[in-house]
Amino acid sequence: MYKLFVMLNIALFGPPGAGKGTQSEFLISKYNLFYISTGDLLRKEIAGKTRLGMEAQSSIASGGLVSDEIIVQIIEKTITDNPDSNGFLFDGFPRTYIQAYILEGLMLKLNTSLNCLISLTVPEEESVTRLLNRGKTSGRSDDNETVIRNRLKEYNEKTLPVLQFYRDKGIFEEVNGIDSIENVNLSITEIIQRELSKSLFNIVLFGYPGSGRGSQGKALAKEFGLEYVATGAMLGEEIASHSETGRKITELYENGQLVPDEIVVQLIEKKLADSKGVKGFIFKGFPRTLVQSYILDGLLKKYGSSISKIIEIEVPTLELISRLDERSKTTHCMPYDNSTAKIVKRLQEHETKTVPVIEKYNQLHGVIKINGQGTFGEVFMRISAAMESGVKNLR
Ligand code: AP5
Ligand code: MG
Repeated sequence: MYKLFVMLNIALFGPPGAGKGTQSEFLISKYNLFYISTGDLLRKEIAGKTRLGMEAQSSIASGGLVSDEIIVQIIEKTITDNPDSNGFLFDGFPRTYIQAYILEGLMLKLNTSLNCLISLTVPEEESVTRLLNRGKTSGRSDDNETVIRNRLKEYNEKTLPVLQFYRDKGIFEEVNGIDSIENVNLSITEIIQRELSKSLFNIVLFGYPGSGRGSQGKALAKEFGLEYVATGAMLGEEIASHSETGRKITELYENGQLVPDEIVVQLIEKKLADSKGVKGFIFKGFPRTLVQSYILDGLLKKYGSSISKIIEIEVPTLELISRLDERSKTTHCMPYDNSTAKIVKRLQEHETKTVPVIEKYNQLHGVIKINGQGTFGEVFMRISAAMESGVKNLR
């Protein structure tokens, strides 16, 4: 099982006394993040007199860094024990180049990644002053001048070079740490809000033909400010625009052939690339096959995104047939359901090709089943409620 809604993973970076711990307190409650401070975890191990604690004790007492081997053990357990959190806030990790790689691996394991590393800059003398001050009440063995100086030396030699790793990745952010606690708060919040607005909210909407997925999808897209992606309609638009692809599609239709995935993929990819600044997408009528489900995963991944929620509208078969039959007698009649034989064929297609996709998704992420009976408004309310739960915490 991996996360369906987007995680927010942030690392706070900076020299001892920069205010990482102070800022973390407000960030974890505001964004509902799981807090991981390697310093706190180590101090807990020491207090519990565990094997790891005993090994770490002397390094901490002298102001040196604890070995990467010890760090990986305490952090791996904490992360893998909490895969369902909204995201992680790392304080004081990664502190070495090796730890930056460790973090990459751990995030990959949860099928997520670090959004950004925020570095609090503070001059050395300010660090020393603050920590000596904190030492009056903190009871921390390392809050004394000799050790503080040594921690700063370790920071400059081993930790500062880590920044290059994040500069290269393009997820490095800097904040002036000598401003007031409130102003530093504001600068960090600004960065995080920007991050949040980057992450897309993507819905896949399933349902048998006649379940209302099309009309609901369009209305939901409007309500939530998402882009509606319906591959059937996109093929139609290509034909209407007389584009090169449109001509190819017409040819296939005329020969009674299926439109190959290559064409559909190109159209969706174009849609994703052209949709700058959108909050996310609602996919309807795609993926229809297992192959297409892998394609969608790959496409979203390419854009640094993933599926946020999968929803299936359920309607009993007899009602589907009666709804499609009703529609075929009106001006809304679709060319693909103007006869009983065609309607049955479409229902069967869904059954054999798309139901396995829904089952696969259900095993991987869980599919939210919505009762599709009742008025349009009733069904709309049910789906809206399902879409809102789970994202609220982050936005
Ligand atoms: P750790 O506990 O992680 O120390 P740290 O978090 O780096 O440093 P501090 O806690 O001293 O500073 P902070 O930035 O959190 O500042 P704070 O908010 O408290 O590490 C301890 C030891 O564990 C290390 O030396 C190492 O041995 C080991 N270790 C830990 N992680 C490791 C890892 N990944 N790899 C290897 N070894 C590891 O603020 C400080 C003071 O300033 C407070 O009194 C606060 O009130 C005040 N203050 C905060 N902000 C402001 C502001 N804006 N204006 C004025 N005062 C402020
Ligand atoms: Mg701290």
